[in-house]
Amino acid sequence: MKAIVYDRYGPPEVLHEADLPQPEPGPGEVLVRVRASSVTTADWRMRAAAYPGILWLPGRLMTGLTRPRNRVLGVEFAGEVAALGEGVSAPVQGTRVFGFSGKGAHAQYLVMPADGPIVETPATLSNEEAAALPFGALSALVFLRDFARIQPGQSVAVVGASGGVGIYAVQIARAMGATVTGIASGANRDLVLGLGAVQFIDYRAEDFTEGSVRYDLVFDAVGAVDFARARRVLKPGGLFLPLNFGFREMMQALWAKIAGGPRLKIGTSGDTAADLDVLKGMISEGKLRPMIDRTYPLEDIVEAHRYVEARHRQGAVVISVA
Ligand SMILES: NC(=O)c1ccc[n+]([C@@H]2O[C@H](COP(=O)([O-])OP(=O)(O)OC[C@H]3O[C@@H](n4cnc5c(N)ncnc54)[C@H](OP(=O)(O)O)[C@@H]3O)[C@@H](O)[C@H]2O)c1
Repeated sequence: MKAIVYDRYGPPEVLHEADLPQPEPGPGEVLVRVRASSVTTADWRMRAAAYPGILWLPGRLMTGLTRPRNRVLGVEFAGEVAALGEGVSAPVQGTRVFGFSGKGAHAQYLVMPADGPIVETPATLSNEEAAALPFGALSALVFLRDFARIQPGQSVAVVGASGGVGIYAVQIARAMGATVTGIASGANRDLVLGLGAVQFIDYRAEDFTEGSVRYDLVFDAVGAVDFARARRVLKPGGLFLPLNFGFREMMQALWAKIAGGPRLKIGTSGDTAADLDVLKGMISEGKLRPMIDRTYPLEDIVEAHRYVEARHRQGAVVISVA
């Protein structure tokens, strides 16, 4: 099968096409014919071994200390079930599915545990749209629901509101009943307001941490704000939730717990079939929609990585797998 592989960490050019043996589903597994995937921030970070701060060591331990252990990248996928392993009766062959893979979706086939993060694709979504969801929407869901425990009526500032996670954070916070302020550059004003934000701040024209509005939650999907600045615009019991963190944020999270006042929480995203079903529910209720910025064919993966790494995308960068 055709796949995109990398054998050393480095710039987008380390990625190249290769012919790999088609994987076989083992007991309890399904074989998926991949039709669409995407390039996420996780993909370029793994390709470049570019982990923020103290995450360098766990990052390298996870992906391979001196070179990548798993040669194929790609965490989001959509396609159809091509074969079932022993003991698996559902989803039946031919079912359209999408999900989150730890084994690499930038290939024509991948194997998933049948009870893993893989669910049937809603009939209303194309493969490209389904592949645009899992990474960003699961991250937003887990951080907003489990770490922030957003309540209706709370005010939320989403920094990086037009990016891979931000476009879903705006929609999901709104679906949870929050009043959302989106922060991105001016060109993205209409897009962010169209996703459900009630206020928009252009970070190039105005520093929202110098403003007079106070928030229950500052959700930073970019790494543009630190705790000292976020505190200035948080209510006394408010929370700063940065997706990127290092040793400093770990210490600040501990200290804020002891000292009282605005808090900081750090955490990592999750990937379960149950949460994919939650996203499907939001889609069927019209509260969530996938957003695709660009679609590249698998052969143009280097270009797609360059674009995502520039950090100015508007939603997902999808890869179509012919
Ligand atoms: N902890 C976890 O488990 C976890 C999970 C998922 C992701 N992450 C991390 O979270 C980050 C989120 O990734 P992503 O895919 O959403 O990023 P992304 O798509 O690269 O973010 C781009 C967005 O950031 C905006 N932006 C750029 N500079 C900004 C600034 N100075 N102030 C405000 N907004 C700015 C861009 O707006 P303009 O284009 O308008 O400039 C665009 O909206 C990644 O670093 C990822 O590694 C962590």
